[in-house]
Amino acid sequence: MKKFTIKTFGCQMNKDDSERISGLLSGAGYAPSDGDGDADVIIFNTCCVRQNADDRLYGQAAALKQLKAARPDVLIAIGGCLAQTDGETVLKRLPHVDLVFGTHNVARLPELIAAAASQKHSVLEILEGSDSFTSDLPAVRKHPWHAWLPITVGCDNFCTYCIVPYARGREKSRPIEKLIAHCRELAEEGVKEVTLLGQNVNSYGRDLYGGPRFAELLAAVSAVEGLDRIRFTTSHPKDLTEQVIDIVAGSANVCPHFHLPLQSGSDRVLERMRRQYTAEGYLEIVDSIRGKVADAAITTDIMVGFPGETEEDFQATLDVVRAARFDQAFTFIYSHRPGTAASKYRCQVTAAAAGERFERLIEEQNRNSLVNNQRLVGANMPVFVEGRSKKDNYRLAGRTPSNKLVHLKGGDELIGHTLDVWMREAFTWFLIGETAETA
Ligand code: 5AD
Ligand code: SF4
Repeated sequence: MKKFTIKTFGCQMNKDDSERISGLLSGAGYAPSDGDGDADVIIFNTCCVRQNADDRLYGQAAALKQLKAARPDVLIAIGGCLAQTDGETVLKRLPHVDLVFGTHNVARLPELIAAAASQKHSVLEILEGSDSFTSDLPAVRKHPWHAWLPITVGCDNFCTYCIVPYARGREKSRPIEKLIAHCRELAEEGVKEVTLLGQNVNSYGRDLYGGPRFAELLAAVSAVEGLDRIRFTTSHPKDLTEQVIDIVAGSANVCPHFHLPLQSGSDRVLERMRRQYTAEGYLEIVDSIRGKVADAAITTDIMVGFPGETEEDFQATLDVVRAARFDQAFTFIYSHRPGTAASKYRCQVTAAAAGERFERLIEEQNRNSLVNNQRLVGANMPVFVEGRSKKDNYRLAGRTPSNKLVHLKGGDELIGHTLDVWMREAFTWFLIGETAETA
């Protein structure tokens, strides 16, 4: 039996695509390998959102040159967002690669692999778009209890820094009946947790129904029997409605966690990013969530060093970070992406200034993360045990409904179960808890 391995970069959408690729290849008679050493097919599922994702791909794929020289029959394939936006360059820079395929070509992967294996030259196939959804393909899921479920693919917002609309195409929603039927199947298969995915989940349905129907979709998924935890990401602040907040507040199985990218706290910068909200508007949403949803966690993405960002703009970002008291922030230094509107903006911020702002931003947010976790010490919360802690193999790792990471003692038999856990100690990135049995 031939064996494959997949190396996944980037966001949850890529994680889902990789689970579909596993499903397709398993259906075509392949088995997962233990690593590169015994793999017949090595697949990179790439990301292009920032330069460092490109660099990591080129580094890792270039390192396979020796392996390819020693075992010429190994087939190396590169798919995902970098392949979609920059496939020709990928082939030029990595001539030992056999196949480059775009984000709309996943369904044809088994045929493409067969074509590449039977030819001397490399194969490149990149479609501009597709009418099908990868979520219609079979999946081999990493965890039997969790499923990703893309509700939209692509994005129509064209934030000026962002390459995603070029890598994933225009926003396309999957019909509501299909999604609900899919959720029922997942529940029957024993899935406990579903994460609804989209670049902007709140605009779900706009292309299909002439207006957004995310609130309705969320309520319908919540009514599917057997799903204990429903998560959704990403929420764009300009489209998050009170109706959605009310549904989260009123549904026991919709998790009280909002990932709400801020990007910047300066109205001037937000305008140049084409984000279509102000800092004040953003904070109003945060207040509404905190007012309506008990124990809600709010996480965010923030960028520093956007072209033209001044110290005053950055101070405005720090002000919002202090006011919003985020539970966690994913922080980035602006990365120039050729082809985007911002790539033509002048007044680039120096690397030194951006790096220094980045450090100050992290310091400010780490205080918030720690204080928010400390507030939970003494509370009892349901923790779904996901597996062994990556940091400390003697501990289990699980998540609260609000997505807080909790470490606790216990045996493997607890994996896949929800336990009542007392929060005992708080750190910036996680909490330590104990159950009645392990206390
Ligand atoms: N440079 C830096 N960060 C970026 N992001 C998207 N594009 C860029 C870029 N060009 C960040 C945004 C987004 C997250 C997924 O990645 O913060 O929310
Ligand atoms: Fe990129 Fe903006 Fe779309 Fe998010 S909403 S994927 S940042 S263009």
